[in-house]
Amino acid sequence: MDQIRNLFDRSYDLFKPLLFYLTKRDPETAHNIFVKFAQALHELRLEKFVLDNEENELESPIEISNAAGLNKNGEIPPSFLAYLGFDRVVIGTVTYEPWKGNERPRCKRYESTASLVNWLGLPGHGVKKVAERIIEYRDPKTPITINVMATPSKKGDDALEDIKYTIEILRHFQNIDRFELNISCPNTHSSNGAIDARSEYQKNLDDMLRITDAYLLESQELDVKLSPDLDERGIKTILEVASDHRIHGFTIGNTTTNHDEYHIPKSPGKGGASGNAVYAASLKVQQMFYEEMRRQGRSYRINACGGINSIIRAKQRVDYGATGIQVYTPLIFTGPKLVRYLRRGLVNVKFNEIKEDIERLVIDNARVQ
Ligand SMILES: Cc1cc2nc3c(=O)[nH]c(=O)nc-3n(C[C@H](O)[C@H](O)[C@H](O)COP(=O)(O)O)c2cc1C
Repeated sequence: MDQIRNLFDRSYDLFKPLLFYLTKRDPETAHNIFVKFAQALHELRLEKFVLDNEENELESPIEISNAAGLNKNGEIPPSFLAYLGFDRVVIGTVTYEPWKGNERPRCKRYESTASLVNWLGLPGHGVKKVAERIIEYRDPKTPITINVMATPSKKGDDALEDIKYTIEILRHFQNIDRFELNISCPNTHSSNGAIDARSEYQKNLDDMLRITDAYLLESQELDVKLSPDLDERGIKTILEVASDHRIHGFTIGNTTTNHDEYHIPKSPGKGGASGNAVYAASLKVQQMFYEEMRRQGRSYRINACGGINSIIRAKQRVDYGATGIQVYTPLIFTGPKLVRYLRRGLVNVKFNEIKEDIERLVIDNARVQ
């Protein structure tokens, strides 16, 4: 069954230069083409035939999911993503009301460094549309995480109500077993996505967690998605607030507002960087978080996210407590083979299997120096 999938993976490699060329001005178009392709394959009932592969049979010790943003509105059928190789599907960020976000183009691709900057501004179709699609695609097998935040126009108590309504609508779906609170979007509610120790922000976070706590079902879990721009003080603040709530895990992390010259030459001067551009920052924050968590004798699930494009990187994240990884930007640059590659590597790392990994890392590090 792998032959068709191999062909599919190779077609992406072949098609990618043309796709990137045609969508250079507005890379979001490439994403929309991908969504349409996924829907067509689903409707033609060809997902299994085209995408299934031997790696999918392997049970990875680390849960592999897509990161939020890839399937913002639940338009990509969960079964498509499961056959692609994901153990879990993240949908969102979902807001209660539809929101247009910023004017397009609102993201920029940096092919030479496999990085991306986006300032989408949390566009979305709103929770009702997302709920309709989850019903339409009815897939009881694939576990779903809903990444949630308030509609950007809402402030204060209205924002809290907004989050509450979204959860109220989605919590009854059987396969939604996790929510992920996105407190780290650099393009909306806070100027740079990084929480700080101000008491006002602490109170906001406390309020958001209180609402999510209260409305989740007993069986559902809550993760919080952090910024890779946090410092030690920010991490301590979050852990302090978290201690009063029913939180199961942290996703580390979102995009970074630090655009370094090497990865992001000619920065657009706004938005969050992802892919290779965020790797070092997200690893550092994960490490600081893990050490502080252990120092305090606490235990949370860690979903590592940000530039994970190789087995070595995935393993680095596992060394700092990750039991799950999420990917988005690396999927754009490496293609669908990445998911199979990560799964195979995580199950059984052998030196010759990670040779390609080492080469990629050496090249990337050499460029940074
Ligand atoms: C185009 C784009 C849209 C994104 N939208 C969201 C979003 O709606 N909610 C969210 O929590 N993160 C969003 N992210 C951040 C990703 O989920 C992820 O945290 C970040 O890109 C780092 O991971 P990566 O290097 O694997 O992409 C978005 C990222 C990109 C590139």
